[in-house]
Amino acid sequence: MLSDNISRRENGELLFAGHSAAALAKKYGTPLYLFDEERIRDNCRMYKDAFFTHFGAGSVPYYAGKAAAFKEMYRIMAEEGMGIDAVSVGEIHTALAAGFPAENILFHGDGKTDADIAYALDKKVGRFAVDNPEELEALNREAVKRGIRQKILLRITPGIDPHTYEEVNTGTVDVKFGVPIETGQAAEFVRSALALPGIKLLGYHCHVGSMVFDEDVYERLADVMTGFMAEMRDRFGYTAEELDLGGGYGVRYTENDPPADIPTRFAEVAARLKADLKKAGLPLPRVSMEPGRSIVADAGMTVYTVSTVKHIPNCKNYAIVDGGMTDNPRYCLYGSRYTVLHGTRESEEKDRFDLAGRCCESGDILQRDILLPADTRRGDIVCVCTTGAYNYSMASNYNRLGRPAVVMLTKDGDRIAVRRETSEDLCALDV
Ligand code: LLP
Repeated sequence: MLSDNISRRENGELLFAGHSAAALAKKYGTPLYLFDEERIRDNCRMYKDAFFTHFGAGSVPYYAGKAAAFKEMYRIMAEEGMGIDAVSVGEIHTALAAGFPAENILFHGDGKTDADIAYALDKKVGRFAVDNPEELEALNREAVKRGIRQKILLRITPGIDPHTYEEVNTGTVDVKFGVPIETGQAAEFVRSALALPGIKLLGYHCHVGSMVFDEDVYERLADVMTGFMAEMRDRFGYTAEELDLGGGYGVRYTENDPPADIPTRFAEVAARLKADLKKAGLPLPRVSMEPGRSIVADAGMTVYTVSTVKHIPNCKNYAIVDGGMTDNPRYCLYGSRYTVLHGTRESEEKDRFDLAGRCCESGDILQRDILLPADTRRGDIVCVCTTGAYNYSMASNYNRLGRPAVVMLTKDGDRIAVRRETSEDLCALDV
């Protein structure tokens, strides 16, 4: 199986985190998002251990909530002692409503409004990752008004191509995020931050992209950022205390993807960073990263019920399910590959299908050209694996479809984390 939290009983029933997907479908209805809580916690601990081993107690990973943000997730993150990367008032509010400590939140985003900034300051969010000079000025104004010095990281664009898909590349000079080193603007950004009375500059943030498998991206990033830190020390006499290397480690969606051995990769990056710092005569900063996908992706599975199967002779077969691009837009947006498994049987005789959704749009495809039992039919359960990241968080109400429920699975049982959106919910904001 793709991941060791997926298995099958002898009778063919598919199990996720030891629970029958078909039984959960019966209990909660479909489409349904499942989360393996132990896997989320294991992934957090994997990162925390790696950070502790290589950088000591002060260095902590921030979970990038954009991958999957709801109260139960933030409660788990608080229990695991993770920090949080939040990108909106909505994410911050959700985290605080779950009891997550504001001090451990890093507020990201390239388009923060004055109202966003005021909200985060009033809630005493620990750090801002400041994206651009206008935001820096606005933050300074609001901080001075409140008589405080806000702790910040400056978002620096390192000029590194992560060789991932275009929509998630954020490292090269031409992207909309951060301020580039190679144009000289990043140095000016630092100069301004150091001069502002409402700003306490802690260091730098950078992020090269998402779904990164390229072997030495983070090593190159360490080189570039150490070079920048040394240059800023030499020019302004300023030594950064913190360095955040962003998120981006890739995960396995299909058997063809390489296994992502994050602890080993991270150890290599840590060794390179330490060597770079030593060479530059810089002290070890508080190091952080912001993993999203690699914390929650393999902790997720989506369960659907087949509504109809269409065999178009000499053309193709469609299996149409009761969800679609509304609960998982990633194939439509990026052509993302997924592994699809039948929920109750694995027959000898298989056929090729396109797994399509129920939306009124031909492009509403969850996955093309997958193998399912040839006799797949209405009422069958079909599961899409590795949907924990960027599915629930990117879901929409297109066609006035309610978003699925989210169910947490543990050794002891299953519980609702987010209830299913009803037709009444969909009308709740209409006047
Ligand atoms: N930090 C920053 C500043 C980011 O922009 C992101 C992702 C992360 C951390 C987390 O990256 P991760 O570890 O999850 O790769 N919707 C796309 C992914 C967009 C990623 C946006 N930023 C997808 O479904 O593939």
